[in-house]
Amino acid sequence: MISVAILGHGVVGSGVAEVLLDNADTIARNAGDSLVVKRILDLRSFPDLPYADLFTTDFDTIVQDEEIRIVVETMGGLHPAYDFVKACLLVGKSVVTSNKELVAAKGDELLSIAKEQNVNFLFEASVGGGIPILRPLSQCLAGNEIESVAGILNGTTNFMLTRMVQDGMDFGSALALAQQLGYAERDPSADVDGHDACRKICILAALAYGKHVYPEQVYTEGISAITPADVRYAEAIGRVIKLIGQVKRQGDRIQCMVSPLLIPTDNLLAQVSDVFNAVQVCGNAVGEVLFYGRGAGKLPTASAVVGDVVDAAQHLTVRKPLFWAGGSADYVLDHADNACATLLRFETDDKQALLSRLQSAVGEIAVVTCPQASTNELAVVTAVMSECELDNGLAVLGEQPVSRLRLL
Ligand code: HSE
Repeated sequence: MISVAILGHGVVGSGVAEVLLDNADTIARNAGDSLVVKRILDLRSFPDLPYADLFTTDFDTIVQDEEIRIVVETMGGLHPAYDFVKACLLVGKSVVTSNKELVAAKGDELLSIAKEQNVNFLFEASVGGGIPILRPLSQCLAGNEIESVAGILNGTTNFMLTRMVQDGMDFGSALALAQQLGYAERDPSADVDGHDACRKICILAALAYGKHVYPEQVYTEGISAITPADVRYAEAIGRVIKLIGQVKRQGDRIQCMVSPLLIPTDNLLAQVSDVFNAVQVCGNAVGEVLFYGRGAGKLPTASAVVGDVVDAAQHLTVRKPLFWAGGSADYVLDHADNACATLLRFETDDKQALLSRLQSAVGEIAVVTCPQASTNELAVVTAVMSECELDNGLAVLGEQPVSRLRLL
């Protein structure tokens, strides 16, 4: 019998307890031993639960209990999660977490402590919820040079963009609906401003290329500026708007960013709707593979956490070689070097004059016509150029577009 503790009995933590209890026989068969929850840390008490006697408010009773070999952290946030996880690793317990903020900020340090202590620090649930992606990336695809990873990593914003495309909603109505359905937080900025997707692409980038990427290093743009007009123009050029986290290798550095992108409708990522997530990995041996599923929610996330608990139980005495090095300041290229075609939309009283000035300022462009556009709008798609070149061209033009969207 292997004793497990859970830190935090919120949505995910309670899901983990439920899955460990409900699927106990199958889990024991897969782990090679029975897994028993011995303690649950939470400030609240849950007297009606069948396992009400497991609750404690005292972290020391967990960290000092030598019988507890695996600790699940599902508290979220950096503190006290970081302090508790570090303390557990330092006394030789394996830790499993769903906390992407923790892994994106402190993954290198915590993996290093786990290595020193010969224990495991696992975090499959931190990216893509229930979708198996981190283990396939670090194990099944380990023979590949990873050329790129791109994904829809945030379910809330994908739900909102789907409603904007399919139902013609504006940003505010889509956000209100997401909040009503319990997808978006009351303070939705982590989702809509792209920070949640940023943390997840940092973790994917670290695994793919072996070096920590700190969220502050990643250019991050959310979806709050997307309007119904943007959605219509995307449609006019056969594309849909998706919030994409992407990373690709450029020599011994990486290009990594989060932003809305115009995706061709025949790209598989364009078909990923509602709260679903998908991650596309391109490896030099395997080619393209796509991982798709529920990126959030109690039981899908608990599924990934419990998978890690089983893995930790199978490797109680042998550490899995999961590791990445610390980051460095110049490792992530400036997003100004990112090369892409861009859809620009201007408001103007003289379209012809603006068009010829634009051609002189930014070079080759294709005019886009959109059936429902107002008469004083000019929309164009630029050639592929670096964002820096486009900035310079727009400075020469002396006018900024009302909307600027990158094409994938
Ligand atoms: N807020 C996140 C999302 C939850 O919407 O995807 C899962 O990380």
